[in-house]
Amino acid sequence: MKPIIRYTGTIAVTAMVAWAVAAYLFGASPADAQPAPQPPSQPQATEQPSPKADSPSSPPASASNPGAEAGSDAGAGSAASSEPPKPSIVEVACDNATPATTFTGPVDGEVATDSVVKFALPPSVDIIPDSQTSAGLEVKAGRTKCLKFTSDGVFLFHSSTKQRGAITARQWYDILVNKQVDDLKGGNFWMPKAVNLTADDSDLMYYAVLGLSLFFFVAIAAAVVFLVVKYRHRPGHKPEPSPAHNDALEITWTVIPTIICVFLFYYGWTTYVRVVTPPTKAVEINVLAWRWNWQFTHSNGVQDSDLHVPVNTPVRLVMTSKDVLHSFYAPVMRVKQDIVPRRYTYAWFFPTKPGTYRLTCAEYCGTNHSQMGITNDGRRAVLVVHEPGGYERYLADKAAQSTKLPPVDLGKMLYEKKGCNACHTTDGSARVGPTWKATFGTMVPLTDGTQVKMDESYIRESMIYPQAKSRPGFPPSMPSFEGQLKENEILGIIAYIKSLK
Ligand code: CUA
Repeated sequence: MKPIIRYTGTIAVTAMVAWAVAAYLFGASPADAQPAPQPPSQPQATEQPSPKADSPSSPPASASNPGAEAGSDAGAGSAASSEPPKPSIVEVACDNATPATTFTGPVDGEVATDSVVKFALPPSVDIIPDSQTSAGLEVKAGRTKCLKFTSDGVFLFHSSTKQRGAITARQWYDILVNKQVDDLKGGNFWMPKAVNLTADDSDLMYYAVLGLSLFFFVAIAAAVVFLVVKYRHRPGHKPEPSPAHNDALEITWTVIPTIICVFLFYYGWTTYVRVVTPPTKAVEINVLAWRWNWQFTHSNGVQDSDLHVPVNTPVRLVMTSKDVLHSFYAPVMRVKQDIVPRRYTYAWFFPTKPGTYRLTCAEYCGTNHSQMGITNDGRRAVLVVHEPGGYERYLADKAAQSTKLPPVDLGKMLYEKKGCNACHTTDGSARVGPTWKATFGTMVPLTDGTQVKMDESYIRESMIYPQAKSRPGFPPSMPSFEGQLKENEILGIIAYIKSLK
């Protein structure tokens, strides 16, 4: 028999036997294991019916620096200086309150808005508010007092001995997104611990391929070195002719690799089919990506740039992009999927453990690719898996939140949540786009040599038709926000730009 026929025959027979064994061991044919992917039942609506909601403004950057002396510029709420002071701290009776935390002196702390903090001070320590925004935060030495923080913000205080403290009050879901990510707990050198029910198989495949590659790399390299040394040319040794063939050897090196390949293929294929086939019953979330932000739209219209999902429930993402290729990547879910303009792609996972996890863009999408989804205080967008019931609470609380924000605060929140901050600063420096600071009411130069007054109409036009009147020195890369901002949101952003004096 010719060698080529002999090899082909051996491979074919071995592959068939190995396939039969693999199919027997791993169960039914994957073709009927899952229903085929369904097209999205409702295309992404351009206008969401229910009120859009987002988190209230996060603390201003300067607030994390409690060095400011007692005074009006302590940080919190400087943008909203024209607003009447909000109710922020209320004293409650300690008897029927369940304090979330107890403080015994001026320290930094974080509390959920509307929760109660108990101050139990030793005789030598007192607490004095730093500024008007922290008014009410006053406890005499040696006293016990329970205070409820009823609005978001940073509350600065100090003691007579010049010790300083800052309490940050945030919505409970904002505390979750600002947590240290849980990716680094558990896991190993290669990957964080998987939090997706269907990730075990892909992990096993990963380690199997890694192990096999390592084994064969070491074995082959060692054999090469050994044979090179053993059969090196040296005086007194004559070259000998190699044997033409060796049946036992040839069958071994054909049969064993064939079995390995068939098992890898079979197992990899069944796993792949499971990974790309979302269950038909799942929580569906729309994902819109652009340079450089995420927008996750939930069933009740709530939009956020962090992804919130329920635990122990399959989650299906329907994703598209406004401009260029992006890629959704949640390492703990072992999910990575390209997001493509003008079409929808899908990803799904089944979160098994509540926590805060990393979420990144895994496709180079321009200057700020590595900063995609960055927030005003420098944190990146995250994936939050809620405790049972938490997701529903998040949806309800977020929806309620948006309706009660004053325009400036709404604009400030949108500045972050709509990703304006990726290109526009509020401190006067230029980024990809012009700064927002101290520009309202001024004349700005245009690329065609003329000038335009920066007023409400110009801001509005620039959001809807960004390239209509573009400014010299900045690339024409801003995407249109047509259909993605409601009227009150446009007004909010204008109010925020006005407030940046
Ligand atoms: Cu978006 Cu990289």
